Amino acid sequence: MSLQIADIHIASPLLLAPLAGYTNLPFRHLCREYGAGLCFSEMISCFGLAYGQQKTVAMLATAAEESPVSFQLFGADVGMMGKAAQLLNAMQPQLLDINMGCPVKKVTKKGAGAALMGTPKLAEEIIKKVVAVSRFPVTVKFRLGVDKTHITCVDFAKMAEDSGAAAVIVHGRTWSQGFTGTADWEYIARVKENVTVPVIGNGDIVNYQNAMYYLEKGYADGVMIGRGALGNPWVFSPAGKPATLAGRVEGALQHLNFIKKYLDTRRSFASTKNHIGRYFTNIKGSSAIRKGIYACASFSDLYHYLTRLQNQSDW
Ligand SMILES: Cc1cc2nc3c(=O)[nH]c(=O)nc-3n(C[C@H](O)[C@H](O)[C@H](O)COP(=O)(O)O)c2cc1C
Repeated sequence: MSLQIADIHIASPLLLAPLAGYTNLPFRHLCREYGAGLCFSEMISCFGLAYGQQKTVAMLATAAEESPVSFQLFGADVGMMGKAAQLLNAMQPQLLDINMGCPVKKVTKKGAGAALMGTPKLAEEIIKKVVAVSRFPVTVKFRLGVDKTHITCVDFAKMAEDSGAAAVIVHGRTWSQGFTGTADWEYIARVKENVTVPVIGNGDIVNYQNAMYYLEKGYADGVMIGRGALGNPWVFSPAGKPATLAGRVEGALQHLNFIKKYLDTRRSFASTKNHIGRYFTNIKGSSAIRKGIYACASFSDLYHYLTRLQNQSDW
């Protein structure tokens, strides 16, 4: 099974979701190695990009090995979104995504993210502008609607398609749900029945078999996985997360190697511990291991802690 978005061939229909604070270059590259067909950057502020803010610029790091990759933009200002998309033309993603699904107050109070589902005319203008200036295929990620009495995903998807989107990504929750309740995949299937561009479904997928179920039943053309991939890049392959400590350590060490390759290990250390701790859930001794991880004072401490764990045969 594969996926095609405009002229981009994507070898697997299982995609890594944009996760602010997590989907940086090392994690994306790791997930690609473990089978993800396409990974998404964290959301990138159109203002941060246009003004060249250092934190934003750091988010644009990519490497040929992770290709294809999609950069996700957020903002509610048509001109600024166009400017940001234009700036991305000089960079090396293969796709561009527009965030119309983020429920976080800091984003929605400025009219961006999921708030755009409440202002579809503005959403349309933004999509048209970004499509007009971008040299990459543009996708749009959104939710079912503003709340359960305003489920608008089918019309929103049609609007996005008519505005030039090359694919749509639907998270099966409403804006007002935030991350509560469960994702409703029946609405995702309804979107798929009503547009011709590929539909990528998202929400609550925690293993490969789960993803395959929705693909084989025709709910969507692709499945995007977010939280289920944290500490679990194996989610993109049939065998899944290893049950053994040695297997978990192996994945965690590979992740550390990518962090070392791409990041300043000192500055990224807090985020590194957050990522690495997640490899050791639901396993014997997990709370002691996570304590051990958090007690490490440096990247090399953590590296040695994990290699010592790997050599313990009695776990
Ligand atoms: C910590 C965190 C950060 C997120 N950051 C983004 C983001 O930057 N852009 C975006 O479109 N969605 C973001 N999301 C939403 C996810 O992409 C995804 O739609 C949601 O988590 C549902 O999928 P899941 O159940 O597979 O996690 C974020 C979610 C979480 C939990």
